[in-house]
Amino acid sequence: MREREPTAVGRATAARLESPEQVVPALTLAAVATAVPCARLFTTHCLRRLGIRGDLADTAEIVVSELVTNAVKATGTTQHLSALAVLTTRLSLISVSLRLTSTSLFIEVWDRDLRPPRLGQPATDQEGGRGLLLVAGLSKQWGYCPTDQGGKVVWCELDRAGSTGCPQGSTG
Ligand SMILES: Nc1ncnc2c1ncn2[C@@H]1O[C@H](COP(=O)(O)OP(=O)(O)OP(=O)(O)O)[C@@H](O)[C@H]1O
Ligand SMILES: [Mg+2]
Repeated sequence: MREREPTAVGRATAARLESPEQVVPALTLAAVATAVPCARLFTTHCLRRLGIRGDLADTAEIVVSELVTNAVKATGTTQHLSALAVLTTRLSLISVSLRLTSTSLFIEVWDRDLRPPRLGQPATDQEGGRGLLLVAGLSKQWGYCPTDQGGKVVWCELDRAGSTGCPQGSTG
């Protein structure tokens, strides 16, 4: 079965059209391997503060990992050992932001590369090429769009239905 294709280039994310209940200030990171665990921790932490945990938080972590890994691969390095050398010669930044509406959680990952993400059709014995298929499978919709500051945002919309959520400020 063909997975869902991304929403057309140039379309703003639905989160920008709906008024979000909560917008988490973007986390900006160097495009190196450690950005991935940082982005995961950021996501879990912010969602907890918004009272979101359980399946939605778990799914958000997976999606953030895939999108940030792709952004790092496209603009930086995934090699731990060369991270320092890359930082001193060519610093690329990426950023992650979260927007919560009454019905959805939007995840947006910015990188400076204009090349579009492409859904793979990996052969069964092929190791890679499944990250975006996973994102597409877990989200209501996903897409990418160029941004005013250059580069692009790859985004996806996760359904809040059924997620364990408490009002903001709740802890537990
Ligand atoms: N942020 C991005 N910038 C530029 N190209 C991208 C970006 N994200 C994805 N792509 C392109 O889309 C392809 C498919 O991405 P996908 O995440 O599905 O697979 P992968 O990263 O190659 O492998 P895997 O995620 O399974 O390790 C990538 O190989 C890359 O060519
Ligand atoms: Mg990938």
